[in-house]
Amino acid sequence: MVETTDEWITTRTGIKERRILKGKDQGTSVMGIEAVKGLLKKTKTRPEEIDMLICSTVTPDMMFPATANIISHHAGLINAFGYDMNAACSGFIYALVTGSQFIETGKYRKIIVVGADKMSSIVDYTDRSTCIIFGDAAGAVLLEPNNDGLGVIDSILKSDGSGEQFLHMKAGGSRRPPSHETVDAREHYVYQEGSSVFKFAVSNMADVSEELAKKHNMNADTIDWLVPHQANLRIIDATARRLGINHDKVMIVIEKYGNTTNATIPLALWEYESRLKKGDNIMLAAFGGGFTWGSVYVKWALNPV
Ligand SMILES: CC(C)(COP(=O)(O)OP(=O)(O)OC[C@H]1O[C@@H](n2cnc3c(N)ncnc32)[C@H](O)[C@@H]1OP(=O)(O)O)[C@@H](O)C(=O)NCCC(=O)NCCS
Repeated sequence: MVETTDEWITTRTGIKERRILKGKDQGTSVMGIEAVKGLLKKTKTRPEEIDMLICSTVTPDMMFPATANIISHHAGLINAFGYDMNAACSGFIYALVTGSQFIETGKYRKIIVVGADKMSSIVDYTDRSTCIIFGDAAGAVLLEPNNDGLGVIDSILKSDGSGEQFLHMKAGGSRRPPSHETVDAREHYVYQEGSSVFKFAVSNMADVSEELAKKHNMNADTIDWLVPHQANLRIIDATARRLGINHDKVMIVIEKYGNTTNATIPLALWEYESRLKKGDNIMLAAFGGGFTWGSVYVKWALNPV
């Protein structure tokens, strides 16, 4: 489709394969529904037990209603309310922290957080600097209360709207509604100034993870797993290096899925789940459009299933 080579893609990004959702009228919810159904089955939870579902996405099925509502309906969550959140590639950690607050207040007992994106719907397959990166996926986690100090322990979340110029979609929103002109100008796709985003991503993701680790007296020995947003293998490596964490403690799935935006972190947790133990110290870290970024300290709550 574009002038590129496998060698360039592999060495500059670490990506080998991606998954693309195909078929007519298949939106992000299709993958979200599958993820939620799988989660309910695995955790032996009945759909009617779920109180709330938050879906983080930049590619909702429609501008409204929320994809969270569509997923809940098709997964049978008849007692759940929910909404979408958009914090670009940091969306999943923002939603995770939001969901955990509702648990901590004691108001709700079972909350599902879904990170899902059909990036292929907003990627310009004539733009070689973005079309080689993104893929489609969804992942979901279940949040429940406990008295053992497990789960979401702490987080640092940040945003800086001056990053808008480097990573955005030009049209389709209220500022530039869809028109023949915007379609002809290919403005309904991801626009990214890759090398600028790369620099911000490396320094901000590493800074915030280091700050959170220091706050909890954590170091390379006491952190069991680093789960970075999967945007580029070189960004993942730089974040791990800053924290002094060995490669074998870093969850890496970018080779198989590419950058799936809101799905990268739950997807990584799902791929590595059989290796996780109750009480493991896990640092999540993300960076994305906005700019948005942050780090979350999680103590894993389950033994392998
Ligand atoms: C997009 C990204 C992979 C590009 O890699 P890069 O090393 O920064 O490359 P640059 O954009 O500086 O481009 C370098 C050269 O490669 C070229 N190039 C870009 N894409 C290419 C491709 N697919 N194949 C071959 N060459 C390519 C550019 O045209 C440029 O050529 P030039 O020097 O002749 O102008 C990288 O910048 C990146 O991962 N950015 C961060 C993405 C991110 O973290 N996003 C966060 C939210 S999702």
